[in-house]
Amino acid sequence: MSVSIIVGAQWGDEGKGKIVDLLSEQADVVARYQGGANAGHTIVFDGRKFVLHLIPSGILHPNTTCVIGNGVVIDPVALMEEIHMLESMGISVAGRLHISHKAHLIMPYHKMMDAAREKGAGSIGTTGRGIGPAYYDKALRTGIRIVDLLDRDTLREKIRLNLDEKNRILQSLYGAEPLDVESMIDEYVAFDTQIDPYITDTTVLLNTAIASGKHVLAEGAQGALLDLDHGTYPFVTSSNPTSGGACTGLGIPPTSISSIMGVVKAYSTRVGNGPFPTELNDATGELLRTEGHEFGATTGRSRRCGWLDIPALRYSIMVNGISEIALTKLDVLGVLDEIRVCTGYEIDGRPVRSFPADLATLSRITCTYETFPGWKCSLEGVRTFAELPPQAQHYVEAIEQLLEVRISWVSTSPAREDTFRR
Ligand code: GDP
Ligand code: IMO
Ligand code: MG
Repeated sequence: MSVSIIVGAQWGDEGKGKIVDLLSEQADVVARYQGGANAGHTIVFDGRKFVLHLIPSGILHPNTTCVIGNGVVIDPVALMEEIHMLESMGISVAGRLHISHKAHLIMPYHKMMDAAREKGAGSIGTTGRGIGPAYYDKALRTGIRIVDLLDRDTLREKIRLNLDEKNRILQSLYGAEPLDVESMIDEYVAFDTQIDPYITDTTVLLNTAIASGKHVLAEGAQGALLDLDHGTYPFVTSSNPTSGGACTGLGIPPTSISSIMGVVKAYSTRVGNGPFPTELNDATGELLRTEGHEFGATTGRSRRCGWLDIPALRYSIMVNGISEIALTKLDVLGVLDEIRVCTGYEIDGRPVRSFPADLATLSRITCTYETFPGWKCSLEGVRTFAELPPQAQHYVEAIEQLLEVRISWVSTSPAREDTFRR
């Protein structure tokens, strides 16, 4: 039994794409289990850059089979764009990508509702990709699934029923123009002909692969603190990026999971609104943003930057069951004289033992920090732990001790080759 899960341990954008790509070389199957085109996973190798939103980051290794599982919500427009982008860059997708017939579809009204809701009070700062409304319909049991594309009558009926309701909401609540049933049906029928070769029962595919001893990598999007159940609700995404989501989002049993790796950025970032205890709203935050090129891979928005947050990470490790860590973007800290790490939370001078569940408590937190000396140099060309400056080695070892989890990989640039095992 060999399924390894790779999860983001913070608020997303930890460098999961880079790590999944690297580890895909040893994998037979790489499977995405949740989220949608809200994700932006960047992979750089041979001087070429790929940004993937829906297709697993294993696609760049020619011998890897890739799966988009039932837990993912699929935007046809984004999917087709991504397939064409990859094919145009010489990456063959046909015959290697398999999409679950049980995955839900993002419909045009999901994106409209996402955008419209964001204009109102309590904006989450979503990516605008229709994610929340699509998962809402899934939970409401009115969602349209890939399998519905196979039967025109079912598809027509489901779109008609949805538009009956959605058009009324769009018009009366958001003042939007109603959407046309027939053109939407045509659009999704056309989509069906394009994706037909990719659709399969991925639950069977994956379980057969597992039973025959193949190595499966389950790729999480977003991060633990954006998890619908375990993140900083309501400033979260609408799915379960934490490791438990891999089982429901792929249809594989918990007993098949052999390891869970957390990807941790050497500092913290967050895109969109919501609590961020170690946020730096100063020149140091700006420096991290520019040095780390902290701009969203999906929306181009500036990422908020801050120090590494040990209490949040310890919580993430607990919820995910993380047994090893890939630490990314260590190089970015090379511009700092000193580096701070939040080692504890306090409220009214008293230590906070567990990660707070509510916004009111999170807003009252003050962080206690430990300060580490910077190394003030580039890490270019460093390919072993021993070659790191002593201060950088000390930083990695100190984080490992604070988290009580082994840091087994360290990444020092966006490129595939600049990652080493410890
Ligand atoms: P993901 O969503 O977790 O896959 O991460 P993103 O791709 O959205 O954001 C991570 C960014 O950091 C991308 O631009 C990567 O190319 C880049 N990156 C990944 N690892 C490193 C690293 O070790 N050093 C530097 N400087 N950049 C990195
Ligand atoms: P990857 O996979 C960082 C954030 C949004 C917003 C919240 C809800 O690249 O790490 P949504 O569109 O999902 O309803 O937005 O979640 N968010 C991400 N932040 N990385 C991501 O994905 C994200 N996907 C969603 O900014 O705060
Ligand atoms: Mg990203």
